[in-house]
Amino acid sequence: MTDPPQQPDATPAARTAPGLHWGLKRSFLTYIARQPDGRCSVTDGADLDADGRFLFAFADPAAPGDRELRLCGELRFAAHHGMLFVRIAAPRLVVEDARGQLFAQVGLEEDAPHVVLATFAVPDRSVALSGPWTGTGLTLTDDGAEVFGGVYDVGEPLDDFIVVPAPAPPGTTDS
Ligand code: HEM
Repeated sequence: MTDPPQQPDATPAARTAPGLHWGLKRSFLTYIARQPDGRCSVTDGADLDADGRFLFAFADPAAPGDRELRLCGELRFAAHHGMLFVRIAAPRLVVEDARGQLFAQVGLEEDAPHVVLATFAVPDRSVALSGPWTGTGLTLTDDGAEVFGGVYDVGEPLDDFIVVPAPAPPGTTDS
């Protein structure tokens, strides 16, 4: 387990808290919020940041040169008397090419396999995955479209994300 997100101010998890800050898709959150029985749970290492985006903590900060970043946290959305149920857990970012892949567990089982939910544009292939950097141009894959009941088409845009690095441990900074 990692430490809880740092909150330097007395505000909710600041937008500078380390981890993956991702709003998923604004219109989907608005849709869930509009349903009389719409529910969203944020657990297991996920939190909300000051901007209302989901914040996934580092499961294992990537070492320089790593091409995969693992995060922890689980989102569950429910509505329409249980007919709508979406789980997005333990996201992973994999960058091998000009387009990266965002994996997540979407099945109900604790150890459900990771599927590629979306792809995104990589700002610079030499970027340190532990941050800071921004993933843009996220679009749904086949598996991703299935997670949303086939309502969205493949290629549907999702929100950008930001990766904020953990502060360097004391005594490891140059000066
Ligand atoms: C009784 C079952 C359902 C009903 C009556 C229903 C109804 C609707 C309606 C009326 C809309 C469009 C209007 C709006 O934005 O409010 C919508 C949008 C949507 N529904 Fe459902 N739905 C149902 C089940 C599901 C299921 C099982 C899923 C799977 C995850 C789903 C995912 C979505 C998504 C992703 C949107 C688009 C949200 C957006 O980005 O605007 N719905 N639904």
